[in-house]
Amino acid sequence: MTAAVILAAGDGKRMKSKKQKVCCRVLFKPMLCWVLDSCKAAGIDEANTCAVISDDPRGVPELLSEKIKTAVQTERRGTGHAVLCAKDFLDEMKSNGVSHVAVLCGDAPFVSAEVLTSALEYHKRNGNAVTVITAELDDPARYGRIIRNVSGEFTEIVEAADASPEQLAVREINSGSYWFSIDFLLSHLPLLQAENAQGEYYLTDMISLARKDSLSVGAFVCGDTSVVLGANDRTALAQLNEIARQRIIALHRLNGVDIPIADGVMIGPDVTIGCDTTVLPGTILCGKTEIGEGCTVGPNSRIIDCVIGDDCNIDSSRLEQSEVGSGVRIGPFAQLRPNSKIADKVKIGNFVEIKNSTVGEKTSFAHLTYIGDSDFGARINVGCGVVTVNYDGKGKYRTTVGDDAFIGCNSNLIAPVTVENGAYVAAATTVTENVPADAMTIGRVRQSFYPGYALRWRKKK
Ligand code: UD1
Ligand code: CA
Repeated sequence: MTAAVILAAGDGKRMKSKKQKVCCRVLFKPMLCWVLDSCKAAGIDEANTCAVISDDPRGVPELLSEKIKTAVQTERRGTGHAVLCAKDFLDEMKSNGVSHVAVLCGDAPFVSAEVLTSALEYHKRNGNAVTVITAELDDPARYGRIIRNVSGEFTEIVEAADASPEQLAVREINSGSYWFSIDFLLSHLPLLQAENAQGEYYLTDMISLARKDSLSVGAFVCGDTSVVLGANDRTALAQLNEIARQRIIALHRLNGVDIPIADGVMIGPDVTIGCDTTVLPGTILCGKTEIGEGCTVGPNSRIIDCVIGDDCNIDSSRLEQSEVGSGVRIGPFAQLRPNSKIADKVKIGNFVEIKNSTVGEKTSFAHLTYIGDSDFGARINVGCGVVTVNYDGKGKYRTTVGDDAFIGCNSNLIAPVTVENGAYVAAATTVTENVPADAMTIGRVRQSFYPGYALRWRKKK
């Protein structure tokens, strides 16, 4: 069995954020959540996952599901100290039968489930006390250097701050992700010393400690160098964002999604899209959004946490936390606000807003309409300018409209109110009372005529 400790206590001052660094987002998803999801996908149970957080963990607890454990590090005394803060968790894991623990950085979002799984295999196969995930970078910058002896054996990690010029020239670096044998981690963590340039307890010193006791250590070299990338400021964050953006777009293209021009297209890591769907410029798809096959989405649309069927057309619109069937046309310039459920073949035209409502098949809201807290049946024609009046200044009320009803232009439906199946509401009617099935209701001032009035008025002026 495996477990994971994720280091997330650093403040990340250079981000200049009110929240902690690991909360900063790559493609709308906090960096810490990328790491947590990779752990989960690598088969590490959430109950076996512990985040090391600061005692002022601004924004971090909100990102953790209930099952995930936390350990608090009150002072930033280094990565080794941070893991030691999770000692109670590690003891518990050991007694639960866990034998290997991944230690990961909450600010390196691209560590993938595949890398974690392959590194674990390598770690077990070689019976290592610790396996470090490494990569060769053109610019090794401030990363810790992987030092090897003449026979190529991995001997230690030297931090950039402590490295000799010769060591600084090494391009193989420590990603900050590791697999540890839990016994070795528990027995040797307390032996770490803070005798280095930064006066910190370096987790990286565990390599030398293992070798001192003739335990085997390994470096799992990762071909994909982006696995190691982290972000300490907004510029680096934007670079991570662009790497993830391009990679995700490429994956969707491989899956048969048509993205002819990727300008302004941002697709989150948890979005699925069916084949033959076209995504046009300026479109942002994020959260847990699912889009079916054969749709056209965009240009300039934003879809957050929605499920959308096949053959839909969504143009210049914003949709959030809603479900949309197949063959639905939305936009241009429409808005679906949270908790709306739209059935197949519905038409939602320009300047239509729908909130917290259900809509049945083939119903049409072609233009300039507000539908809030309502249940509309199937095949209803809703004229231009219809408003459900759902709020009286205190409470919200529901409007119900039955199948095959017809709501004339510029009508107000004052909730709570019901228009039954097949009823007609004449244009400009203010509906305050229920309309029985198949009835017609009209409620407007009768038109009167004043011959010659306009002419007299003009002359007087
Ligand atoms: C660390 C590694 C370095 C590696 C790099 C990869 C050490 C000593 N160095 O350096 O070899 O190349 O990561 O990114 O481990 N954290 C805490 N508490 C602390 C200190 C850090 O929770 O007291 C967390 C941070 O929030 C971060 C992670 O640990 O998520 C890494 O810490 P950071 O200070 O960024 O380490 P680096 O200097 O980048
Ligand atoms: Ca770092």
